[in-house]
Amino acid sequence: MNTQVITIDPQRVDTEKIAKAAEILNKGGLVAFPTETVYGLGANALSPDAAAGIFEAKKRALDDPLIVHIADQKDLDKLVDDVPKIAGIMMEKFWPGPLTVILKKKDIVPDIVTTGLDTVAVRMPDCPIAKELIRLAGFPIAAPSANLFGRPSPTLAEHVLDDLNGAIDAVLDGGKTSIGIESTVVTFTEGKVVVLRPGGTDIDEIRAVIGKEVDICTHGAIIDSSPGKYPSHYSPKAQVVLAENNTSQKENVIEKTEAYVSAGKKVGILSKKEHADSFTDFAVRILGPENDLRSCAAELFHSLRAFDKDGVDIIIAEAVKEEGIGLAIMNRLKKAAG
Ligand code: TXA
Ligand code: MG
Repeated sequence: MNTQVITIDPQRVDTEKIAKAAEILNKGGLVAFPTETVYGLGANALSPDAAAGIFEAKKRALDDPLIVHIADQKDLDKLVDDVPKIAGIMMEKFWPGPLTVILKKKDIVPDIVTTGLDTVAVRMPDCPIAKELIRLAGFPIAAPSANLFGRPSPTLAEHVLDDLNGAIDAVLDGGKTSIGIESTVVTFTEGKVVVLRPGGTDIDEIRAVIGKEVDICTHGAIIDSSPGKYPSHYSPKAQVVLAENNTSQKENVIEKTEAYVSAGKKVGILSKKEHADSFTDFAVRILGPENDLRSCAAELFHSLRAFDKDGVDIIIAEAVKEEGIGLAIMNRLKKAAG
């Protein structure tokens, strides 16, 4: 059966249409919906059967836990215990928004959602459609990104359908997601904030709010379940090759491209806006200007998926500055490059 598409004007939150989606969730179904980061694949977070459907539809590994989405701060108390003071400060400042916090779970959260961990990931999205969906459902919504496991996250309903048409009940099409990269995932240990996945909430802003250093968990993930565990995440079908961010980056891109072209490969260049004029002999997609990393983040997954549609074998991606949201962009590009 085809997935039902429910089109919503993002400027006007149509409660009647969103109620249809909430009803599907109420019956234990699966609905993809926009958030400000990427599209999520939602199910009733308090129903083990409904949540199991997410893993099946995405072909997701059964040891990769889900994020639980809430619409109201008071819903948090039902889900978690022992909220550290610093976690409270972070939620106050960054919710609703692209921040996911890992906290000690209560029994009401099914084991399948947390894949047996005693912690649960919680996020309060800022997107009006997502908030209304959670409110109308009347329960928290478990939702990973709405892509097939390992593929780039969807920033359009079309991407969701490319991966999951027929495998899920409905998608709420609310247009392009504004941030375009997933939430920042943080955990708290010994009064410290540890970033498990850089994302839409800028780490510099977190530093400014808590007034101390923030640990960034790089590869050898501090816990088994953290988002660093699956290196093949965010991968388009094409092979991604990174061109380092240095003074000879442009020359380096051309060299690499010519080498792959002579080897008979179809190559696409994911270029900074500032460099695009140098690559006019080749197939180019522009990520965005390097001095506006927010707009680069918004284009990243869309560009990777667009290259797949172009049928390229190799994507030569220009590395960007690893600061602010650039940390999240480079995290995804490095993982896509494997
Ligand atoms: O922006 C986002 O975060 C999107 C939207 C839909 O909210 N969601 C998203 O979900 O990106 P997902 O499942 O693709 O990524 C969530 C990551 C997973 O890699 C998982 O390992 C980590 O969060 N995670 C979930 N629960 C965890 C836990 N209890 N401890 C550590 N990491 C956890
Ligand atoms: Mg994901």
